[in-house]
Amino acid sequence: MSEEIKTSKNDHQIRTVGIIGTGQIGTTLARLSVRAGIYVVLSNTRGPESLKSLVAELGPLAKAGSISEAIGAADIIVATIPLPNYRSLPADKLSGKIVIDTMNYYPIGYNIEELDNNKFTSSELVQQHLIGSEVVKAFNNIPYPHIALHARPKNDPGRTTIPIAGDDEAAKAAVEQFTNKIGYDTVDAGTLAESWRFEPMTPIYYWPYAPVVPEGSNDADARRIYQTTFVDPLRPTAAQQLLKETERKTPVGGRLDILPPIHLKLYEEFTQGRY
Ligand SMILES: NC(=O)c1ccc[n+]([C@@H]2O[C@H](COP(=O)([O-])OP(=O)(O)OC[C@H]3O[C@@H](n4cnc5c(N)ncnc54)[C@H](OP(=O)(O)O)[C@@H]3O)[C@@H](O)[C@H]2O)c1
Repeated sequence: MSEEIKTSKNDHQIRTVGIIGTGQIGTTLARLSVRAGIYVVLSNTRGPESLKSLVAELGPLAKAGSISEAIGAADIIVATIPLPNYRSLPADKLSGKIVIDTMNYYPIGYNIEELDNNKFTSSELVQQHLIGSEVVKAFNNIPYPHIALHARPKNDPGRTTIPIAGDDEAAKAAVEQFTNKIGYDTVDAGTLAESWRFEPMTPIYYWPYAPVVPEGSNDADARRIYQTTFVDPLRPTAAQQLLKETERKTPVGGRLDILPPIHLKLYEEFTQGRY
């Protein structure tokens, strides 16, 4: 890990990103990172052996490791695992690190009372667990096929915007730089307590990035439309407006029945029934 990738604002130097969770989001962010010249160390529950073909596909900037190795090697960590497992993230090893939290609350087969009663946001719970880390919520509101599809270089007219939230300004600046580098503009949505503004079911969640798949589309058309249709970019001012207009609602949490069936089908195919 020798080559230095310089970042401009506040002089953050993001050379290596450690990824915990190699599902749809983890693999997509790994691809974009490598494309931007950032080293990645990938980890999951099944161990490095399970990541051999992915690492080969990603090329020389990528390697697989244990969760500890991914954390140890990285300037910034992406924790992208199912929310019910967040307490298994090793708080001691993650202490002192910036952790991007992509996780969302979909209360299916489980509930978290402090979320249901709006006492905390899911990212506040993650921060409470990761007591010595700086948690920044990002990449939770954009569906995985569209993270890859919509990534664009800076100043490209098609570049879209995602919100980020966190309690530490320096950590947020580092995540902003990482996000900018891999293809997105960002808007600051405030603290983790305010991150409900882009949790599931809010106006900036999912639909500003995903195309409408016409009802009655056959499987081939649904796949093509869903995975390849560009949606008009969300400009930073429009993103801020969506965040501002949001009202905090109950019940809290995402619902699968509002997603197009092709999204769920692609997820099942990707995970091959593992989850
Ligand atoms: N899919 C989307 O479009 C989307 C969009 C935005 C945000 N999100 C959120 O981002 C997170 C990841 O979503 P995903 O769709 O990428 O998930 P996914 O495809 O289900 O993959 C989950 C990954 O997490 C790993 N994992 C599970 N428990 C773990 C643990 N305790 N320690 C380390 N690794 C663990 C799994 O390891 P193994 O591979 O070893 O089983 C797997 O690689 C979720 O919280 C989700 O709500 C998803």
